[in-house]
Amino acid sequence: MTADHWQAVALSRELRKRPLRVMHDGVPVVLFRAQGGISVLVDRWPHRMMPLSCGRVVEDTLECPYHGWRFGTDGTCVAIPGHIGDLPRTRIARYAVTEQQGAVFVARGQPDALPYTHVMAHQSPALRLVKSSARGRLADVAENILDATHTHFTHKGLLRGLYARRQRVTVDVTGGQDWVEARYTGEDRQDGLVSRLLDGARTTTIGRFRHPGIAELEYWGPRGLVLATTFHLRQADAQTVAGIGWLAGPRQRVVGQIKALAFKPLFAIALAQDRRVLRAASENAQLAGSPDPVIGPLDFLRRDIMAIIAGDPPASATAPRRHQIDL
Ligand SMILES: [Fe+2]
Repeated sequence: MTADHWQAVALSRELRKRPLRVMHDGVPVVLFRAQGGISVLVDRWPHRMMPLSCGRVVEDTLECPYHGWRFGTDGTCVAIPGHIGDLPRTRIARYAVTEQQGAVFVARGQPDALPYTHVMAHQSPALRLVKSSARGRLADVAENILDATHTHFTHKGLLRGLYARRQRVTVDVTGGQDWVEARYTGEDRQDGLVSRLLDGARTTTIGRFRHPGIAELEYWGPRGLVLATTFHLRQADAQTVAGIGWLAGPRQRVVGQIKALAFKPLFAIALAQDRRVLRAASENAQLAGSPDPVIGPLDFLRRDIMAIIAGDPPASATAPRRHQIDL
């Protein structure tokens, strides 16, 4: 992965007075709020490798809990209790940080544009922010979110009815330099509970993957976008994918609000079902004798997702594809 892109690492609301440790590409970093805004430093002070996130914020500095050394927002040491004379020049590496739409984004370099957040960022939608994590690799988790064909089994009854009939749908796969999307048309509606809450006839569903690890779904009805979920995923450590997601939809009247309230717990159930299959599969893949993964005929996005993660343009960018499936 290149250093020069933003990754969503925390919700704004979870970063209060105490410093917060998160993993960024396997490196521990500490977020803390100073007067000038949020600062992000590597969470490992080379003096004794102590995590500064175990310490506290004192004025505009972070205080190490071990010997009380204090560090400014730029990572320089500004105080060593008991020491008379010059301070060491050693500095802790600092990361770029920005807060957008209720989430905190971090970058190792200095990206020249603000981060993409979600589909409806330029409107004023009804928004819910969620945070989750799953076992596995980034491509597996992204594929799980964007995979329409697992819903019959993994989410039976929730996203699909118990005896849902399959329907013939068209899947158009298109892409660009750093994204790929699958557009499903011809699907009247899904029969499960969640789909009932989402109301009315479905016209189009879109699943999209964007660099560096964004998986998003759009549900379109006859009168426009009904719901968009954008998940920012990152490989926090070798076994864990962490995600921050926005559920965005148009602001609605009271009925819509009630439905939106009911939606969040159901969404949480679906998430738990996905976490369960991802964990079982990931643990299995790590056991001895695990074969190379098979890419199935309905895994329309897998190769393109892997190319985008590797920093390459996906095949769909130059050769769009059309499939027909019984979904
Ligand atoms: Fe799922």
